[in-house]
Amino acid sequence: MSFLREVLYSHGRILRTLSVETTALPSIVVLDFGSQYTQLIARRIREQNVFSVVLPCTAKLDEIRSHNPVGIILSGGPCSVYDTDAPPTDPNVLKLGLPVLGICYGLQFMTHVLGGTVHAASKREYGHAEVTVEASSALFRGLPEKLSVWMSHGDEADKLPPGFHLVARTNNAVAAIENVAERYYAVQFHPEVHHTKHGTELLRNFVFGICQAQPSWTPAKFIESTVQKVRETVGNGRVLCAISGGVDSSVAATLVHRAIGDRLTCVFVNNGVLRKDEYAKVQHNLRTKLHLNIDAVDATKRFMDKLAGVTEPERKRKIIGNEFIEVFDDEVHRIERESGKVEWLVQGTLYPDVIESVSVRGPSVTIKSHHNVGGLPEKMKLKLIEPLRDLFKDEVRRIGRDLGMPDDMLQRQPFPGPGLAVRILGEVTPERVALLQEADEIVVGEIKKAGLYEQIWQSFAVLLPVMSVGVMGDQRTYAYTCAIRAVTSEDGMTADWVPLPHEVLKTISSRIVNEVPGINRVVYDITSKPPGTIEWE
Ligand code: XMP
Repeated sequence: MSFLREVLYSHGRILRTLSVETTALPSIVVLDFGSQYTQLIARRIREQNVFSVVLPCTAKLDEIRSHNPVGIILSGGPCSVYDTDAPPTDPNVLKLGLPVLGICYGLQFMTHVLGGTVHAASKREYGHAEVTVEASSALFRGLPEKLSVWMSHGDEADKLPPGFHLVARTNNAVAAIENVAERYYAVQFHPEVHHTKHGTELLRNFVFGICQAQPSWTPAKFIESTVQKVRETVGNGRVLCAISGGVDSSVAATLVHRAIGDRLTCVFVNNGVLRKDEYAKVQHNLRTKLHLNIDAVDATKRFMDKLAGVTEPERKRKIIGNEFIEVFDDEVHRIERESGKVEWLVQGTLYPDVIESVSVRGPSVTIKSHHNVGGLPEKMKLKLIEPLRDLFKDEVRRIGRDLGMPDDMLQRQPFPGPGLAVRILGEVTPERVALLQEADEIVVGEIKKAGLYEQIWQSFAVLLPVMSVGVMGDQRTYAYTCAIRAVTSEDGMTADWVPLPHEVLKTISSRIVNEVPGINRVVYDITSKPPGTIEWE
């Protein structure tokens, strides 16, 4: 859930959501049984230019049909089919007359429902495994007889259901089964993860060979249909976009701008905790490279006044969220006074934010307030346009590229809505913001120089309220500590710290200490997520 969207929802500005959806395209429906890899299945299929949607495994048959499926994939999941709280999936999903591919739990579900048996394996199979393909199968067409695959399961199929035969096995267990007459296929391993060699070919065999899907889901097609839909939806109305300069809001705005031109106004707020020169640079890029109509509002003082004396992380987040709404609201009123009523708001919401996954693990606890969505008290009537609602992040970049957006804008690392405020531990003051901006600029600059920027999910500096003694020339120093954070991640939900080359760390450290008076010590954060989080607050 993007920062802006949460803030706006929680303040009730948005009464109705109107998404620009990809309707009627033939799709592969992925039913989610709670696996951490479910979204990856949909992504792998979309990489083949075939549209794919993820639905909870409890989806009604009518809903599944409404997505015009040409095939169904049943994902993995943490449960056992014999659990009393196993997801209550309608077994008739297997009777829609469509080809079905079960993956891991999906295989066990099919086995169980269709009259076979499943048992708890004596040993949990986790990690790499070697599979031998023993029978010819459309699913394994063109693949070698021995496959290196990724397994992660505790249960395994035992007695196969009537009409099924064994296609592949590991030393210990069933690895693939099928019932060709019914077009049922199932694998115990995970073809969607990159550790499974030839996994993509297997999925291609299912999607193109078995389901006969056409590769019609392309950026050009998406842009064309979205532009048309935005025009139809908005008519002669006026549209606002709260833009941050990040990839999602910039691509969303560019798409809408292509549809309705300067009836779109993009509001860009300086909350005083942006990175060095970001307020000027983002405006320049959006105006000169994307030709957007930008309304820039420098509200630094308002934010700084509210943040004075505040040290508690959640309070900082709430203050910045609330103040953003106030500033945005004032701006909407000003625009309306000058140019007439505004009806619509564009948001760069992405698909992972809207996928409703089954709650197999129960409600998750709130770690940081940006994961919350508040109620909808009625106040201001803006309707929402979400042109990227059906897309994953890498697809947004592809669309941006097709729209002619420059690569440096599309490859920007994510930056949190509350900005540097959640990277300054303790009170946020203008002086501390300035210190962190300088240190951060050095970190990012050196990482770019080393050619690492685009391989890293996020890399930044954190200002700690810890002072220590140092020596510079003949002088004693007593100054702040700065931490360096660099992580790789697929989606921000989990992350690994990056072992940056020592030479890069050395340059960063010596530049910060020499060029940023006020910081005399640099440390490196080697915590992954979990148990850490990416941001320090
Ligand atoms: P954490 O710190 O929770 O961050 O591990 C996960 C990802 O989310 C980003 N982040 C935010 N993004 N509003 C945002 O739009 C926020 O309030 C916010 N807080 C954290 C963070 O940068 C990382 O990519």
